[in-house]
Amino acid sequence: MVTSTESPLSRLPDPLLRWYRVNARDLPWRRTDSPYPIWVSEIMLQQTRVVAVLGYYGRFLAAFPTVRALAGASEDHLFKLWEGLGYYSRARNLQKAARIITERLGGVFPRTYKDLIALPGIGDYTASAIASAAFGQREAAVDGNVLRVFTRLTDCHRDITDLKVRRAVREQVGTVMPRAADDIRIFNQATMELGATVCVPGGPPKCGLCPARDFCLGRIRQTASALPVKAPKKERKIEEKTVFLLQREDGRIALKKRPGSGLLAGLWEFPNVSGTLDGGAGQELLSHWGLTPRDWRKRLTAKHIFTHVEWHMTGYSLLVSGAGTENFFWAGSADLDKIAVPSAFAKYLAEARSLLDAPPD
Ligand code: ADE
Repeated sequence: MVTSTESPLSRLPDPLLRWYRVNARDLPWRRTDSPYPIWVSEIMLQQTRVVAVLGYYGRFLAAFPTVRALAGASEDHLFKLWEGLGYYSRARNLQKAARIITERLGGVFPRTYKDLIALPGIGDYTASAIASAAFGQREAAVDGNVLRVFTRLTDCHRDITDLKVRRAVREQVGTVMPRAADDIRIFNQATMELGATVCVPGGPPKCGLCPARDFCLGRIRQTASALPVKAPKKERKIEEKTVFLLQREDGRIALKKRPGSGLLAGLWEFPNVSGTLDGGAGQELLSHWGLTPRDWRKRLTAKHIFTHVEWHMTGYSLLVSGAGTENFFWAGSADLDKIAVPSAFAKYLAEARSLLDAPPD
């Protein structure tokens, strides 16, 4: 019988840390043990791939080099630096947490899992990642990469979408975490790195490169490619929308601020309504908005996928006249450089920019 000290999990740390010290990618947030930049990186990495984050991380820290600078940023500046990263509530929560740290915690960054998880936007994984990487605390950070490594290593067929299973994995990984501070700081990074670069999803893992290949049960029993087991996701809801790219005769283009709560809260969008309107219904809506179409220029369709919903958009690009009854912000080119329009509207934003950059007739 295999005893706990011989389990594949308890055999992992030594070869894993040796492997990591030689093979880890040189990522900017791994060159520091300062909590603020580590926190920013972990929030950016929550729903976004490393390559995408790299383009944002340095710029964000250059603009907001300290917790205090982030706490004092304007919403438009904050969102502008997040533009394109998606899941904007992450940026809003970063700032909320920065304000809590500066205003209520005397500017002192929380050090423990319990105090970190109490901050907005910091969940189980992120609290553990920060506590270990910045403060050397023995907290296992279990994300999708780590769940994949763990289930393959131990040939575990439980459903990883079940919170109880994730908690159990966290507890078990916690029992084998190293004790030396230097090792603790990199252990979570190392398991994550193994999952991201060797024990990869969506295809066969690269077992030949793996420091755990001699004792990984998923490799030995040839189950690794079928793991982890995940219950199928619920289907996303489809929402149809009609988007209006309205340009006034002075060249400016209509934007509208989204409500302060819900999806893409507080960001800027092109005026839009639910449902797919044909030209006639579009015309009616425009007159309701106090605008008269002068030229129907283009129909632009686009699709955007969020976690739980898909937007299927039909768009009309129009030249309009009239005073307008709606609370639109009529933006010029310089305004678009300062405010954030989420990627869901990327096609309309590109069209707006080309209209604004076009020389007048
Ligand atoms: N994904 C989540 N956290 C990460 C980190 N610190 N490095 C690389 N990928 C990650």
